[in-house]
Amino acid sequence: MGFLKKRPRRLRQNETIRNQLAETRLSISDFIYPIFVSETIDQPEPIESMPGINRLPVNSLSREVENLSKLGILSVILFGIPAKKDPTGSESLKNDGVVQRAIKEIKSANNNLLVVTDVCLCEYTDHGHCGIIKNETVDNDKTIELLARQALTHAEAGADIVAPSDMMDGRVGVIRNVLDQAGMEKVSIMAYSAKYCSAFYGPFRDAAGSTPQFGDRKSYQMDHSNAREAMKEIALDIEEGADIVMVKPALAYLDIINRAKEKFDVPIAAYNVSGEYSMVKLAAQQGIADEKQLALEILTSIKRAGADIIISYHAPKVAEWLK
Ligand code: PBG
Repeated sequence: MGFLKKRPRRLRQNETIRNQLAETRLSISDFIYPIFVSETIDQPEPIESMPGINRLPVNSLSREVENLSKLGILSVILFGIPAKKDPTGSESLKNDGVVQRAIKEIKSANNNLLVVTDVCLCEYTDHGHCGIIKNETVDNDKTIELLARQALTHAEAGADIVAPSDMMDGRVGVIRNVLDQAGMEKVSIMAYSAKYCSAFYGPFRDAAGSTPQFGDRKSYQMDHSNAREAMKEIALDIEEGADIVMVKPALAYLDIINRAKEKFDVPIAAYNVSGEYSMVKLAAQQGIADEKQLALEILTSIKRAGADIIISYHAPKVAEWLK
């Protein structure tokens, strides 16, 4: 049988050779773990639509980050759930707001963990939109002033990286200016640059109570039909001073991650969002798929597409699986 000169299966014949030749390897250092910090609870509270994820009170964070550090997780991203919401999201600007207190708590427990903060208004506004409403739409220029003030309070509390997720025009530039003028030039910006208006955010909005009370986010988040527009958004954010850019969601947008990686020389983050996470958990609970196999395949694909950083609720499990 000398007729087959090329036999690709030679290089797949056992686990050792497959391991040797794997082109993409997940490492726990690729991951950022999202944390929901709530001002309204004093015990961890399970999030129904996200099996395995809790809302946490500030006083539980030092124990939480100790566990995460032991697992090898380098970084967390914080989302705040305030006790009070109002039309302008004013709770988000307070020096003793829930996220600001959470940052201090984490930093005093473990100064080496990188603390990223989500900068947005939707968790703080009573209407659930990501900015100030004027004539039934989100007013861009008023909103970015508030976002910059919010980012500054996070930086002053000790955040290493601020991550604006609102999708207003020009917010990265304004945040960079405000941070620099305050002597916070060492604080990095990870911009949610190509953030799509997505049905995959459902469980998050349940977790954070941030569902828009009227309309939708289509006038600020991107249309899922568009790819070139993502390159425009990323280029603008880099011009305005973004250190890291993000594509979000991840799994349905691997082409966008890939294009971004080819085109830009900054680290690319991808957000494996709540809906992507919960689909895996529910499929596993139903016996339709194996959680570990499914999650690792998805996360490896996100890295293979080009992500340098993966934000994922699976991170603590990944740490165990990769051991
Ligand atoms: C806030 C924000 C959202 C997510 C991250 N930051 C929700 C939204 O835009 O509605 C979603 C994250 C997830 O689904 O895991 N602007």
